Amino acid sequence: RRPALLRREAVVATVPVAVAALLTAAGPATAAGSAGAPGVGDPYFPLAGNGGYHVSHYGLTLGYDPSSGHLTGKAVLTARATQRLSRFDLDLKGLKITGLTVDHRTAAHRRDGQELVVTPARPLRKGQTFRVTVTYQGKPGPVTDPDDSLDGWIPTDDGAFVAGEPQGAMTWFPANNHPLDKSAYDITITVPKGRTAVANGVLLGQSTRNGKTTFRWRQKEPMAAYLATATVGTFQVKQYTTRDGIKVYDAVDPREANAAAPVLKKLPSVLEWESGLFGPYPYRAAGSIVDHAPNVGYALETQTRPVYDSAPSLSTLVHESAHQWFGDSVSLTSWKDIWLNEGFATYAEWLYSEQHGGDSAQKNFDTLYATPATDSLWAFPPGNPGSGANIFGTPVYARGAMTLQALRVAIGDRAFFRVLRAWAQQHRYGHGTTAQLERLAERESGQNLGPLFQKWLYRPGKPSTP
Ligand code: ARG
Ligand code: ZN
Repeated sequence: RRPALLRREAVVATVPVAVAALLTAAGPATAAGSAGAPGVGDPYFPLAGNGGYHVSHYGLTLGYDPSSGHLTGKAVLTARATQRLSRFDLDLKGLKITGLTVDHRTAAHRRDGQELVVTPARPLRKGQTFRVTVTYQGKPGPVTDPDDSLDGWIPTDDGAFVAGEPQGAMTWFPANNHPLDKSAYDITITVPKGRTAVANGVLLGQSTRNGKTTFRWRQKEPMAAYLATATVGTFQVKQYTTRDGIKVYDAVDPREANAAAPVLKKLPSVLEWESGLFGPYPYRAAGSIVDHAPNVGYALETQTRPVYDSAPSLSTLVHESAHQWFGDSVSLTSWKDIWLNEGFATYAEWLYSEQHGGDSAQKNFDTLYATPATDSLWAFPPGNPGSGANIFGTPVYARGAMTLQALRVAIGDRAFFRVLRAWAQQHRYGHGTTAQLERLAERESGQNLGPLFQKWLYRPGKPSTP
């Protein structure tokens, strides 16, 4: 979540990425008979992800030295070809490759921007499971997103803030970098003794020798690459298990500790409250990473363990926690649908307020609806942000949440809360589209909701009636 610092320029709709660019980028897919496409076809990020395979598991072994900013990495990807592949791409930006094998045989590779083009010694059969091992090193840095924010590996004064939405995973590991592909992860990180390296899922163990500490993390439930983290810093660590058996690991920069403590304490009750509304929490692990990273300007719902650039407010904790259901467990198929993440997480904040003695969701809706038609809130419709520069714009969050409130008013509380639950349950660990949500809401309510979705998600400008 970005605390209302949305620059106006970022909200002005820009020319959508031409589909033509996507096709050109796809190159001669038939030249070698069966090259994998360099992107999955996302209109906003044409080179994100790759065609021709799915990754089931990433094994990442990393070493990071905060004082030099040097990273060494070994990535072992277990993947399955969905077509015959004479060659395929991975996404990787920067860093130097020191070795690359496919099924233990050296494979030819070349770099082309963010594409790492791999040509195995012999083509992969459709349906074949294969293993890619990439060793690499260098000084990682963030990517600049279309809205000028930074994401990826962002060095801090004592480590690195690591958050990859939408593009930054490729700044620290070779990935099939699109939420369409979800995988299990094992992430092992070695840092100087005294620093802590925090990734997703459960901490399997940690050990120190020769002045270095290694942390071993396991994320079993499927995860999109952008939700992976390997945040490094000087952290105060707290571990406990909730009464639902969820393993909590909190890592907090001491400079943020006083402000963070009262909020982090509420995580178990927030997760319980959200489980009551959305169904069981999807993961076996939880927690928070509270960094001190003034140059970042946002928090990210990194899977199981959101990362905050500073001590979060309770509302932000509620927001990132709600993303564990909406965004992390139920993933996007296209960045254009980003309101399914941000509208839902924002609406969770409204519900939390409503059920904890604060403003009702309707009050939030009314306050927003009262803003003049010239406000940036109405600059573009949330279901069609127009470009990657707008995916974190105010309409996505605020008008996205207003859409849910409008839906709730139209179909009534009973059907609405059934929809929230069913959405999380039916698409658990998978994907969901706006069209699927609309169909679900129509089934649960027996109403034709086309006009409502059209009005709130797709029609430009401020709707003439609330
Ligand atoms: N998904 C995050 C949140 O709203 C925001 C991430 C913003 N990322 C960025 N590169 N600006 O919780
Ligand atoms: Zn969010």
